[in-house]
Amino acid sequence: MSRVFPLSLRLAVVLALAAALAPVAVGAETVVEARQRLMVSMIKATKVPRAMVAGETAFDVGAVDEAVKQVLEATALMPKLFPDGSAGGPSAALPAIFQNRADFEGRLLDLEKASVQLAFAARQGKDEMAYAFHEYEAVCEGCHAKYRRPD
Ligand code: HEC
Repeated sequence: MSRVFPLSLRLAVVLALAAALAPVAVGAETVVEARQRLMVSMIKATKVPRAMVAGETAFDVGAVDEAVKQVLEATALMPKLFPDGSAGGPSAALPAIFQNRADFEGRLLDLEKASVQLAFAARQGKDEMAYAFHEYEAVCEGCHAKYRRPD
């Protein structure tokens, strides 16, 4: 059933669900904790297609869809989780975010597009997915290079 469900429809459902959950997720923890938790959920999700691309796990379109869904849930919540002045302290976020908000949020949209593209590419085959995966990872890395304090 879920495999034949059109991706665009699933995307709409996921985004609606994420929007409905937003106040709950933020109320129980600080914004910094919430965004770090969601970033961790994205790295966990990203490991699924990464292992397939590396040939460590079997190619599985359903598992790619599940990973993409997790990333879309996280990115839908993310714009609200970087309020002005929330850099510093336990956060690795850089103040440049607040001076370049349109660029920062544009990168979150780029990540949504790249993750949907990843799910589509997985339907074309493994090589196509590998190419899309590198494009997708470049979005993570590009944003970290500009807006995240290096370790
Ligand atoms: C729009 C910018 C942006 C994008 C895109 C982005 N990140 Fe991040 N990421 C950040 C920022 C900023 C932080 C620091 C957050 C903080 O500490 O407050 C961060 C932190 C993290 C962390 C550390 C979380 C922790 O526990 O401190 C991980 C892991 C991470 N990102 C993974 C990813 C992955 C994987 C992707 C791509 C699927 C991604 N990020 C895409 C901006 C981004």
